[in-house]
Amino acid sequence: MCGIVGYVGTKEAAPLIWDALLRLEYRGYDSSGIAVLDGQGISTVKCKGRLSDLKARLRELPAATLGIGHTRWATHGVPSDRNAHPHRDCTGNVVLVHNGIIENHRELRERLLKRGHRIESETDTELVAHLIEEEYDGNLASTVAHVSRELEGSMAFAVIHASEPGKIVVYRDKNPLIIGLGDGENFVASDIPAILPYTRKVIVLNDGECAEVTRDGILIKDYSGRIVHREPVVLDARAEAGEKGGYEHFMLKEIFEQPEALSRAISARIRYDRVILEEEEFGLSADEVKCLDKVYLVACGTAYHAGLVGKMLIERLAGIPAEAVLASEFRYAEPIIPRNTLCILLSQSGETLDTIAAAREAKKRGARLLAITNSALSSLAREADNVLYQRAGIEIAVASTKAYTTQVVCLALISVYLGRLRGVLSPETERELCAELVSLPKKAEAALGVKDEIEKISSELFDRKDIFFIGRGVDYLTAMEGQLKLKEISYIHAEAYAAGELKHGTLALIEPGVTVVAVMNDPALSQKTASNIMEVKARGGRIIAVGSEECLLAVHLDGDDARVPVPATYPLFSPVVSMIPLQLLAYYVAKRKETDIDKPKNLAKSVTVE
Ligand code: AGP
Repeated sequence: MCGIVGYVGTKEAAPLIWDALLRLEYRGYDSSGIAVLDGQGISTVKCKGRLSDLKARLRELPAATLGIGHTRWATHGVPSDRNAHPHRDCTGNVVLVHNGIIENHRELRERLLKRGHRIESETDTELVAHLIEEEYDGNLASTVAHVSRELEGSMAFAVIHASEPGKIVVYRDKNPLIIGLGDGENFVASDIPAILPYTRKVIVLNDGECAEVTRDGILIKDYSGRIVHREPVVLDARAEAGEKGGYEHFMLKEIFEQPEALSRAISARIRYDRVILEEEEFGLSADEVKCLDKVYLVACGTAYHAGLVGKMLIERLAGIPAEAVLASEFRYAEPIIPRNTLCILLSQSGETLDTIAAAREAKKRGARLLAITNSALSSLAREADNVLYQRAGIEIAVASTKAYTTQVVCLALISVYLGRLRGVLSPETERELCAELVSLPKKAEAALGVKDEIEKISSELFDRKDIFFIGRGVDYLTAMEGQLKLKEISYIHAEAYAAGELKHGTLALIEPGVTVVAVMNDPALSQKTASNIMEVKARGGRIIAVGSEECLLAVHLDGDDARVPVPATYPLFSPVVSMIPLQLLAYYVAKRKETDIDKPKNLAKSVTVE
């Protein structure tokens, strides 16, 4: 989704901003632009397409040492040169970039048009440049703060004014914005990776804060105009900027990083055969845990699929009623939150607006918030009462892989921990579950061994119109995530069904040659799934069965079908292992189709609009 970068210092701004925007490329965008400010005023270049298209235009810009840049993911108005940011007012003195959505854009547009403004784009963003033009009182920061009061929606801005050289004004409300501190230079960005090569000292703005950024200093004011003093956070020296490390795509690299990521998520949290969570990671006392009446798991997309697994884990291992809800639905569903409710919010990026909005709703209704996220300093991490970090390492590919499996193990750790505190799990059972958790990185490593076989299977699937995924119990949840992976990067229509539901309607779609991926990891359910597989085969369907050896024995496959064994584990932990062949399947089908695997069309890595 959209990215913001700004620079003020002594270096030439445009190439530096371009380079920083490139590090946000993975977030998804369809146009980009850069504006620089020097003694002569503001110069802008922008265009539809990739940053490589913009690069050719940078020579049109003067060698200024201050500038702002943007990658746009279209919401209001098609992707085009005209709608690309930065946007300007009628005079060209005010130029800005924006992430988010201005919800009252219609009335603002009407009002500005009536007053004679020339509005050139279809965007909501440009309107803000005209509002600043109208209200400018010689002080850009106070004008931006004032104008922000007229805006509804979510926003992060970086604004420059021709009369105030040497200064970038930034404002944040419900969209992330950070300031990076350098030596004789400062940076602004919507996301940390943009500025990692330049500085590791950052200040995170809070909602309603407006800041003036010059090469020598930062002045932050809150919503009421009071000066805010905030110490910078120094990022871990290991914070990665994200390199492909010899892999053809980030997605493949991230699939193969799973054993290591799982090990980071699990190992320090299991000691002496017990799950140990630090105070800041969990925070509820043993008494509070005993009183829990309900757990909500709220998230979007892949994180929601992990949440569904979490619901099963929490109910089975801790005996607490749990419900997984899509964040975009939760907020408007008037959720009933019993008195002792824990709301677990899952988000790899920690910036998904739907999830953050759901967190606020849950908090308003009295729930305790626990975030499971991969991003320190993210909005969600700061919103929640406690944060359990996934420790997966930066995930660049739009299609989540290691974020999913590390979320599932975080939920498994929480469930075992809750189960002990509530007296549901005996020490013996906890010991067995912990041993199983500790073995997951090795099992994930073994599951990666199916790579070549999956590549071969994929070569026959790339021209399919539809592919179905089935499973029972937790395997149905793995099937759901498997179909999402396939459709998001290969653009093949895929659906997941509870295997037992086929005969209630979906079987009508099965005809000779249709491929059905069946997931089988729960020995208690494998005979039943095997019967459903036979229903598919009887109608000419072709099966790709993924699961533990023991479960796969239950099914009769023939020449046309494929069998993909993965190591057995405790069934509710199995998504961590059996998802790996499904991730590889999606990857190799997409590769065969030559799609843009790391940046699939229409999608963005971090979805900061509703
Ligand atoms: C996953 O492959 C998707 N790209 C998407 O569903 C993603 O999981 C969702 O947008 C939630 O993102 P988050 O984890 O950053 O909140």
